[in-house]
Amino acid sequence: MKPTSSEPIDLFSDQFHQQPYTYYKDIREQTGFAKVMLPYGIPAWMAFHYDVAEAVLKDERFIKDARTVFPDEVSDEQMLPISKSMLFVDPPDHKRLRGLIQKGFTPKRISRLKGRIDAIAMEQARRIKQKKRFDLVEEYAFPIPIIVICELLGIPDSDRDKFQYWSKLIVDLDNDGYGESSTVQEGMNDFLAYLQALIHARRQDPREDLLSDLIRAEEDGDRLTTNELYGVVMLLIVAGHETTVNLIANGMLALLMHPDQLALLKNDDQLIPQAVEELLRYNSPVEFSTDRWARESFSFMGKDIKKGDFVIVSLASANHDEALVEHPDKLDITREKSPHLSFGKGIHYCLGAPLARLEAESAIRVLLEECPDIRLGAEPAELAWRQSLIIRGLENLPVETG
Ligand code: HEM
Repeated sequence: MKPTSSEPIDLFSDQFHQQPYTYYKDIREQTGFAKVMLPYGIPAWMAFHYDVAEAVLKDERFIKDARTVFPDEVSDEQMLPISKSMLFVDPPDHKRLRGLIQKGFTPKRISRLKGRIDAIAMEQARRIKQKKRFDLVEEYAFPIPIIVICELLGIPDSDRDKFQYWSKLIVDLDNDGYGESSTVQEGMNDFLAYLQALIHARRQDPREDLLSDLIRAEEDGDRLTTNELYGVVMLLIVAGHETTVNLIANGMLALLMHPDQLALLKNDDQLIPQAVEELLRYNSPVEFSTDRWARESFSFMGKDIKKGDFVIVSLASANHDEALVEHPDKLDITREKSPHLSFGKGIHYCLGAPLARLEAESAIRVLLEECPDIRLGAEPAELAWRQSLIIRGLENLPVETG
């Protein structure tokens, strides 16, 4: 069903999740930048056109740290440690925090992990292919990135169910998103207690891993505070798997719904990097940017923005704008790489992009090799999408093989 311009569009309804790109197309015909009502009655500006989305992400007047504009309303104690991580702070802190771990994420460093990532994907694929029917989200897409990020950081992946629970609390809309509900508070306290114990143990017994590097930076004193250390580890665990899980699952769903594209890929695995790029654009795992606030009042794209206004970018809408690519609603894995916004833009551009690409390429290639006859095990319209203000991801993706 196509929305009519007289009805307000609920960006978070089940109906919207089923076919967001049809709705976004309609919205983009009406506006590129508009005020919307978020769940819990919070008003926000939202960017829908590609050029507006890109401009918001690059404009340093849209800041990440709410305390700059609401110094009396948000206290330090109310904030989750993850709010002290690079994604939620502005320069100069942002540069210092990002600089500390950037070296660990260069394309060259990451490409060295390829063999290990292939082996992890293979192990998962061989395990599930014994079954005739399985949930691609839980049983394949989820374990791969969590094992990889745990190995990178040097933490036991045997606790991955706990990470999944805590990460979901952070990104899902079931909670209030601001860390105020008791479930979120409790979960975050547990997450923090877990990290405290882990960091305490690693201090006594440092190793050659990212966590030990970060602990050394914290021990140097002026480079990383203890709260920032917790924040960055939380961010890497959450950002390192919530997103990539959905790139693998959303990507496989798109391929399974387009048998011609799937056949192309099976015939020529050289197309995999290009295909992943198109899948990132076509069904972006991160639907919305994280929150930004206007640092001052100013005119932006013909709208009067007031100091403290809340601004979000619909990355998914921008990626389906005709200004970006021709026939944006068509999946075409042979397309030339587009400057899509799935990894954001500007100073907060995704630090993990090379890792995410490598994981998705490996996961999709290995799955198609091991389960060449993989097919959907449910009607696409029956699939449930998660309620999140950040992620576009499926609750489950039943598939069949054999
Ligand atoms: C498909 C997978 C991924 C997608 C689509 C994705 C997307 C994004 C986006 C859109 C942003 C910017 C958000 C904004 O500006 O509001 C971002 C930032 C970030 N991502 Fe990713 N991400 C993915 C995987 C990863 C991985 C695997 C890691 C690390 C292990 C990671 C770490 C980060 C970090 C640290 C930032 C903050 C960068 C900064 O503030 O300077 N991401 N990501």
